[in-house]
Amino acid sequence: MCGIVAAVAERNVVPVLIEGLKRLEYRGYDSAGLALLNPTLTRLRSVGRVAELETQAKDQVAHHGIAHTRWATHGVPSERNAHPHVSGDLAVVHNGIIENYAELKAELIAAGFGFTSDTDTEVIAHLIRRTLHEVPDLTAAVQTAVTRLTGAYAIAVIREWEDRIVVARHGAPLLLGVAADGVYAASDAAALLQVTRQMIYLEDGDVAELTRGGVKIVGAGGTPVERPGVESALSADAVELGSYAHYMQKEIFEQPQALAATLELIGGAQTLSPNLFGAAAPELFDGVEAVLILACGTSFHAGLVARYWIEQLAGIPVSVEIASEYRYRASVPNPRQLVVAISQSGETADTLASVRHARNQGMPRTLALCNVPESAIVRECALRFLTRAGPEIGVASTKAFTTQLAALFLLALTLAKQAGRLAPPEEALYLASLRHLPVAVQKVLALAPSIAAWAPRFADKQHAIFLGRGLHYPIALEGALKLKEISYIHAEGYPAGELKHGPLALVDKEMPVVSIAPNDALLEKLKSNLKEVAARGGEMYVFADADSSVTEESGVHVLRLPEHYGLLSPVLHVVPLQLLAYQVALVKGTDVDKPRNLAKSVTVE
Ligand code: M6R
Repeated sequence: MCGIVAAVAERNVVPVLIEGLKRLEYRGYDSAGLALLNPTLTRLRSVGRVAELETQAKDQVAHHGIAHTRWATHGVPSERNAHPHVSGDLAVVHNGIIENYAELKAELIAAGFGFTSDTDTEVIAHLIRRTLHEVPDLTAAVQTAVTRLTGAYAIAVIREWEDRIVVARHGAPLLLGVAADGVYAASDAAALLQVTRQMIYLEDGDVAELTRGGVKIVGAGGTPVERPGVESALSADAVELGSYAHYMQKEIFEQPQALAATLELIGGAQTLSPNLFGAAAPELFDGVEAVLILACGTSFHAGLVARYWIEQLAGIPVSVEIASEYRYRASVPNPRQLVVAISQSGETADTLASVRHARNQGMPRTLALCNVPESAIVRECALRFLTRAGPEIGVASTKAFTTQLAALFLLALTLAKQAGRLAPPEEALYLASLRHLPVAVQKVLALAPSIAAWAPRFADKQHAIFLGRGLHYPIALEGALKLKEISYIHAEGYPAGELKHGPLALVDKEMPVVSIAPNDALLEKLKSNLKEVAARGGEMYVFADADSSVTEESGVHVLRLPEHYGLLSPVLHVVPLQLLAYQVALVKGTDVDKPRNLAKSVTVE
């Protein structure tokens, strides 16, 4: 989604703005731009990569600037729609969506303002300039103008001859970086590590005035507030590509370390304590009689796996809801329900809104399962578990997913223990299995060359089907999502037993069918489903376990995972599917890390 970088400093801020935008490229964008003060405005914009903007800006020098990567919402990707948007002597960059923009636009047109773009952002620029007629101070004008906005925004504003930048946020991420030579702002800490580690996270409703001398913040109530400074723990190396060709590749291969780092949270414990999820967890888990999981995309698939685990181990009913659907559904609230929000970024607008909706429905027992500390969803929930996958840059989520699974398994064990359904020896065995996961995943990664050999057979196909049963049905969904996301091949995941109820009609020799065939109780049933495919001439690609009795024959290709892993098997079986999607995208030559039309952090509805 859109990314913002802003800087007011003693140094020339142009290289900082450009480097910051490059660090935000992973969020997804289609155009970029910046505005500098010298002391009048210079605006540069381009469609396409930040590198293009960098070329345009190479001779610029300034001490105040705002910069932006745009992911189109209102209006096509084009230079005229790229940010910053200018109104007279001021310029604005914006992340989010202004829901009442049409009404404001009509009002501003009636007041004589002319529009040069199709964006909702230009409305903000004109609204601030109009407010300046009555409230001549820039910071106060921004404070007043934002009260007219409905929706989500993070904005940064500069004005000719002003020695300050004004920023504001509501529902979209924005943080400040404080350095010895000035103050910076960005959508994400990764953009500011080049200049400082001292961050201040703004709260919803905050408006901040940044000058070379420091920061003044006014809260939603209109009075000055202090927000705590936080030293970012993010390592600059963690966002470097190193020797890998793509971030997605790096992140797939980082999964053993990501899992090990996440499991460090339990150390060598032989028994789990609810405190792992926060100091209030013993009280909030007490008497939980149902679990509601809210998430989107890959995080939703992690929730689907968790349903099997929690219901089997803890005997507690679980519902898993796509966040964007749940928030608009007339559901039946249960105050004794634990609400679990799963999100890699912690900024997904739909997931955030769904948690707020659940709480407003009288369900205060909320747990965030996130990969980004200080993110909005983490701050919104009463309890938290932070996965330690490290920054995930590739749009296709990989290491975030497997670490979410590890965290959800810990949750299932904790709830099972609380329900009196987990004996100490069994708990110790599950914990040992979890701790062995990094080694087990490492062994699966060794299949990469064999999977690469399969990839060309998918690259010229239009469609693919992924089959799984039980615990591995969500893994089939995840495999299909990975393939469609980065290779643009239409793919669907099905529970294998459902095939004959419709999708079998699609199967012919042009339809690759990928099956997850672990050696579990459903293997024989899955084999019958595979026979149904074989009888229709479908080409099958089977990921079996070492001891699964599935044999290679004409039209049936089999790769074996080194060991069967019981309940934790989904963590292993998703890895070859990630590799398959990656390899197919390589053959097709798509933009693996920044697939078309997608954004990493979906901060709009
Ligand atoms: O940051 P989140 O986990 O909340 O993101 C949710 C989805 O947008 C995300 O998982 C998306 O589906 C990924 N691109 C999938 O690879």
